[in-house]
Formats: sequence, structure tokens, C-alpha cells
Amino acid sequence: MFPIVEAEFLAPDVKRFVIEAPRVARKRKAGQFVILRLHDHGERIPLTIADSDPDRGTVTLIVQGVGKTTKLLNMLGPGDAILDLVGPLGTPSHVEAFGTVVVIGGGLGAAIAYPTAKAMKEAGNHVVSIVGARNKELVILEAEIGAISDELLVTTDDGSYARKGFVTEVLRELIESGRAIDLVLAIGPTRMMQAVAETTRPKGIKTVVSLNSLMVDGTGMCGGCRVLTTAGARFACVDGPEFDAHEIDFETLVRRNRTYLSNESESLRRFLEDPERDLDRVRESCRLEWEHPEVRAEARRS
Ligand SMILES: Cc1cc2nc3c(=O)[nH]c(=O)nc-3n(C[C@H](O)[C@H](O)[C@H](O)COP(=O)(O)OP(=O)(O)OC[C@H]3O[C@@H](n4cnc5c(N)ncnc54)[C@H](O)[C@@H]3O)c2cc1C
Ligand code: FES
Repeated sequence: MFPIVEAEFLAPDVKRFVIEAPRVARKRKAGQFVILRLHDHGERIPLTIADSDPDRGTVTLIVQGVGKTTKLLNMLGPGDAILDLVGPLGTPSHVEAFGTVVVIGGGLGAAIAYPTAKAMKEAGNHVVSIVGARNKELVILEAEIGAISDELLVTTDDGSYARKGFVTEVLRELIESGRAIDLVLAIGPTRMMQAVAETTRPKGIKTVVSLNSLMVDGTGMCGGCRVLTTAGARFACVDGPEFDAHEIDFETLVRRNRTYLSNESESLRRFLEDPERDLDRVRESCRLEWEHPEVRAEARRS
């Protein structure tokens, strides 16, 4: 059981959690994720580790409520706990001194890109960050990303804040201005990452994307997360989630991610009719461990 120690909304439906998970906090590297399960009837979902504090034994997750499990999670707060949290999973981001690195975060992708952008800065790169959102309310982590970037460019689709337009327009201008760019890292909706790949492809600029394929175990045992690349099928949970954008078959990825759409909307509909039932399940699943502090102490020692 993993107690939630802090929780706050950063934007509508986007919540930041600080969770006690000392072993994960000690080992995680930028680019890795966890798989969690909220209660013993719950599904397993992948979430990126946005930050960690090994001394305090905590990890930070930033969650966008898009369906049943993420909306249920976003109803929890301090005093609640998460039943299972497995990690760190995935191959860490490849970080070295590349030179100039452009980091692009679309929507919630800003939260997923943040740890790698920070690691790139610490490795001595000149970091140019481009953060895009649909509107002003949805711009997240602007101050945090600004603090670890040499340059920060913000866009909103509707022009309600900063520059109007898509992140790809800013990237195209940077490329056309003749700036030397050694690496582009893009994280966000699949179609955005595909558009970034097409923007950098003609110039041969190395581009890395973090793929959000459907996952189950997250440890390489099922292939539910497989993505097609020019080098064949790869499992995003172990070979990724970061891949060379110019090698990805994005059309197949989009199609695979839509496989369970009707089940997902049905399960969300049923959840919203009676969210209390699932909230009770979360609290019931974790109750035994709350009531037996020695179980928690043992979990922390191991
Ligand atoms: C490696 C990895 C890291 C991730 N990190 C984060 C994170 O830090 N924060 C965060 O909020 N989300 C993250 N995601 C996405 C998150 O796992 C999904 O949003 C979540 O599983 C949805 O579960 P649900 O039951 O709430 O919604 P569902 O009912 O499963 O889905 C609702 C809607 O979201 C879409 N969806 C479902 N799964 C995904 C997915 N994996 N990617 C894109 N769209 C999806 C569905 O097509 C549907 O439209 C990550 C995904 C991966 C693979
Ligand atoms: S989620 Fe099962 S192999 Fe990746």
C-alpha cells in the first residue's frame, strides 16, 4: 500500500500527487514510469514518474483524468492510499551532452517531458522548451519547466495565453531560422508526436518520442504495448517508452490505442453513475494495511 501524502489540481482534471514509495524513489531515472492499481478489482495503468525525492521516499505523478481509473485516482487525496504501485519500469531516457536539445510537451506531455528536460539540462545541454496546450487553463508546469530551460516558448491553440498556434509551428520556425538543433524530444498526443516527426524528418534532426501505448503488466510479458518500428515490433514497456520518432508506424499505434474505446466509455459511464462504490473499494482494499502499521513498516524496510 502506497500512501498519498500530497495532492493538488494543476489544471481542470490534471492532478499532481506525491506518493510514499521509497524503493521506487531510490531507483528511478528520468523517462521511467510506474504501473498502479487502485483497488483489488482495479485495472493496471501506466503513469510517468514526474519527479522523486529519495530522502523523503516519495514519487510525484501527474495525472490527467481521461477515463474511469484516472478519474477515480483524481478523486483521492492525502489520507488515501494506492493498493499497488510497481516500478520503476521502462528504459530510462538516453541523456548525454548532445548540445542543443528542443523539448516539446503537448498538454499533459509537459509533465512527462519535464524529468527528461531537467536531466538534459543537468547533463550540460542548452535546453529550449516548447510547451503547448489547448488553452490558458491547461498550461501546466510553466514555472518548473522555465526554471530548467535556457529558453521557454509557450503556445495555446486558441491564443488565450502566450503565442497562438501549435507547438509544431514554433519548432518549424526554429528549424527555418537556421538554429543548430542536435536533438528533439517530443511528448504529447500521438498525432502531435507524429507531426513533430514529420517536421524534423526532412532535415534529419534526431527526434525522440515517448509512446503511450496500452499496457497491462509493463514488464515485457504480454506484448499488449507492442509498437511497429522500421526495425520490427518492439515492446514499449521494456524497449521504450522512448523511441526514434522516424522509425515509428504511428498509424498502427493510433489504431491499436482505439481497440477498447467502447468498453472504456461504458466503464466510465457506469463509474460516473456511482463513484462511491469504487471509492469504497479503494478504501477497503487498503484498510487492512492501514490498520496494521507493522505491515507498512515491513514494506518500507524491504
Ligand atoms: C508509459 C506511459 C506513461 C504514461 N504517463 C502518464 C502520466 O504521467 N499521466 C497521465 O495522466 N497519463 C499517462 N499515461 C496515459 C495513462 O496511462 C492513460 O491515460 C490511462 O491508462 C487511462 O486509463 P483510464 O481508465 O482512466 O481511461 P481509459 O478508459 O482507459 O481511456 C479513456 C480515454 O483515454 C484514452 N487512452 C487510454 N489509454 C491511453 C494511453 N495509454 N495513452 C493515450 N490515451 C489513452 C482512450 O483511448 C480513451 O479515449 C501514460 C501512458 C503510458 C503508456
Ligand atoms: S505491457 Fe505487457 S509486454 Fe508491455
